[in-house]
Amino acid sequence: MKSILISSLLGFIYVSLVQADVLVQPDFDAKQFSGLWYVVSMVSDCKVFLGKKEHLLMSTILINAMEGGNLSAHMAIPGTEGCKTMEAEYLKIGSEGHFKVPASGYLDVRVEETDYKSYGILYIYKELEGVLSTMVQLFSRTQNVSPKALRAFQDFYPVVGLEDDMMYLLPKSDACSQEDIEGKA
Ligand SMILES: *[C@@H]1O[C@H](CO)[C@@H](O)[C@H](O)[C@H]1NC(C)=O
Repeated sequence: MKSILISSLLGFIYVSLVQADVLVQPDFDAKQFSGLWYVVSMVSDCKVFLGKKEHLLMSTILINAMEGGNLSAHMAIPGTEGCKTMEAEYLKIGSEGHFKVPASGYLDVRVEETDYKSYGILYIYKELEGVLSTMVQLFSRTQNVSPKALRAFQDFYPVVGLEDDMMYLLPKSDACSQEDIEGKA
């Protein structure tokens, strides 16, 4: 009992340390980060994700910077039963580029690195059905991610304790129409 308590306490301290270590893109500019992104890869220690990752497909997220630093996001997520669209708000917490997304159970989201014009790396600390997990997403402006972006992504996720076998490169899909992607349906 005592050892369980200690190990969970250590786990908590570890997570807090890791979170504190994750930096945000300096001078994050929400306007430049706006527009369409493809979610080309994800890596996570969430058991639900690990159980179904081979069934996931490349999704899109259309970001719109709002007054004050919040972002609105329209997502189009292809699946076996067609395309699912979803709206979410990235609520700014603290500095620019640092958010939470209650609609997705994301407690802490940081745009860790981006060059705005080709890629972005997002660190996410999330809660699903009471279980906490860490995720890193790779955003790309095009469906074909650049080798440089992939390298930056693969260099980053081990820093937050994620491993190569938890990573999945999402296959392209045409299940979502242009209207689904742009939210004009
Ligand atoms: C972001 O959105 C939340 C919830 O709608 C709101 O309470 C908050 O004031 C907004 N933040 C800014 C900086 O506008």
